[in-house]
Amino acid sequence: MKIISTLEALQQERVQLAKEQKSVGYVATMGFLHEGHQSLMKRSKAENDITVLSIFVNPLQFGAGEDFETYPRDAVRDQRIAEQEGVDIVFMPEAAAMYPGNSTIKLHVADRVDVLCGKSRPGHFDGVVTVLSKLFHLIQPNRAYFGLKDAQQVAVVQALVHDLNFPLEVVPVSTVREEDGLAKSSRNVYLSEQERQVAPAIYQALQKAKQSIQDGAKDPEKVASAVKEFINSQTSGRIDYVEILSYPALKPVKEIDARIIIAAAVYFDKARLIDNLVLEAD
Ligand code: PAJ
Repeated sequence: MKIISTLEALQQERVQLAKEQKSVGYVATMGFLHEGHQSLMKRSKAENDITVLSIFVNPLQFGAGEDFETYPRDAVRDQRIAEQEGVDIVFMPEAAAMYPGNSTIKLHVADRVDVLCGKSRPGHFDGVVTVLSKLFHLIQPNRAYFGLKDAQQVAVVQALVHDLNFPLEVVPVSTVREEDGLAKSSRNVYLSEQERQVAPAIYQALQKAKQSIQDGAKDPEKVASAVKEFINSQTSGRIDYVEILSYPALKPVKEIDARIIIAAAVYFDKARLIDNLVLEAD
C-alpha cells in the first residue's frame, strides 16, 4: 500500500496507472475509519483494478462553531484498516497543500441544499463539492463510492458529476449499522453511554415510518410528526429536522407516492446524528 501526501506524487502515480490502463475506484473520507467506510472500500476493491482512499478532514465544509478542530483523527489506525482492506493508495494531503490560499474560483451548490443538512449547515455542501472537484481531478477515478448514510451528499455529488461533466460513475452504497440499528459514524464516539443507549431510536422511528407508508400512509406531515414524537419520547436529543422529500431532487411532496427520503437529524450533547431511509412508495 502506498501512502501519498503530496499532490505532485499523486498526479505522477495517476499517469502511471493510466499507462497501465488500470481502472480506478475511489473512496473519499475524513478518516477515523469504521465499517461504513470499509464497505465502500470493499465495493471498490471488487469492481476496480486499483482502489484509492483519501483521508482529509476538509476545513471548507465545517461551519463556525462546528467540530473541525475536535473531529476525531487517528492516522495510524486508519492506515492499518486501509491495509487490511487491500487499499492500493492512501492519499493524505496537508490542508495547506489542498488550499494554498487566494482561491479565485468558488463553487456554489444552487439546488438540493435548501433542505436537510444543507439548511442546517449553510455553506457545507459548497465545501464538499469544492474538495471533491479537486480530488476528482487529482485522482481521476472511473468510479467513486459514497454512502447513503449521507443521502443528501450523494444527491449533490450526482449533480456535481452531471453538471460539471466529470467522467466518472457515482456508486451509492447502503448504510452500515451497529447491531442495534444505529448508523455507524465517526461521530458516534461523542455520545455519552446513556445517549448511545437511546440513539437507535432514530432508526426505529424511520422504520416505523416506512411501515406506516407501506400500510398506506400518504400524508408526509403526519408521518414526519410521528417520527418526531417517537424520537422525542425515546431520547433526550433535540430534533434538528425530520423531513420527507422526493429523492434525489429533494423537493417537498404533497403526497407520498414515488421515490422519497425520510431523513432525521438529532442533536445530542456533543454529537449531531443523522440517518435516513430512501424508499419507493406507490
Ligand atoms: P466521511 O463522513 O468520512 O464519510 C466518508 C464516506 O463514508 C461518505 O461517502 C459517507 O457517506 C460514507 N459513510 C459514512 N458512514 C457510513 C455508514 N454507516 N454506512 C455507509 N457509508 C458510510 O462524507 C464525508 O466524509 C466527506 O463529506 C467527504 C465526502 C470525504 C468530503 O470531504
